[in-house]
Amino acid sequence: MSRTLRRVLVAAAALLAGAVFVPAAGAQQTSGAQPYIVGGTNASVADHPYAVYLVDERENQFCGGTLVAADTVVTAAHCAVAVHSSELGVVAGRQDKRGTDGMRLGVRRVWVAPDYEDPTTGNDIAVLTLAGSAPYRTARVAGPQDEALYAPGTMATVLGWGRLSEGGEKSDTLRSAQVPVVDDLSCGQSYDTYDPQTMLCAGYPEGGVDACQGDSGGPLVVGDTLIGVVSWGDGCAQAGKPGVYTRVSSYVEDLPGI
Ligand code: ARG
Repeated sequence: MSRTLRRVLVAAAALLAGAVFVPAAGAQQTSGAQPYIVGGTNASVADHPYAVYLVDERENQFCGGTLVAADTVVTAAHCAVAVHSSELGVVAGRQDKRGTDGMRLGVRRVWVAPDYEDPTTGNDIAVLTLAGSAPYRTARVAGPQDEALYAPGTMATVLGWGRLSEGGEKSDTLRSAQVPVVDDLSCGQSYDTYDPQTMLCAGYPEGGVDACQGDSGGPLVVGDTLIGVVSWGDGCAQAGKPGVYTRVSSYVEDLPGI
């Protein structure tokens, strides 16, 4: 059985067992905080105008993305290949998925990292060239000169409209959470396919705060600099299982239009 298939089955089992898992995840919250993203809070597109989401042919949000130029969005490869480009949409400037703020743009071109196969083996990054321009403040893409931002313990912000708990419902509104960058040695102990050249991990040893399904492709930023793309993890917010992100600085020279 492929790793992806196994993950899908695990996710399906978690969904079925949702009634059991959700209270358990709630009990892990140490503060009074609600489990948003997982363990995050409400965020505004005014503060994070580069945070965008991807919609499928039924206009359903299924991933996140980051506006890095007026017509250019960085997302995860596994998000970009999930929907045919003619049916893929990018929504910018809309905090609440139920509203009509901002705009929905089509996608003119999809670039996927050439060596991408599966999130767990790395290269989970793609660039969408939009059919129009989005007039919002863009994020800066981290490059080789930004290694300091990847130092273990650096606090980064993850943003998205994904699930509020493992196996739970997706958020209607943008959420954010703060997570520390994890050192390569401990991430390698958490995940045997962890590759420090193409990935980074972020999260707390005790879990409780993380990205989750539906957040994929979305930004991990330090200030307004994009350092990671939400990629994968074992469940969401579990102890000893930090979120894994695509290490953006390793790709900046390859990304078209940036
Ligand atoms: N692969 C997921 C998605 O498609 C994102 C998983 C992130 N998981 C995590 N524990 N950080 O939305």
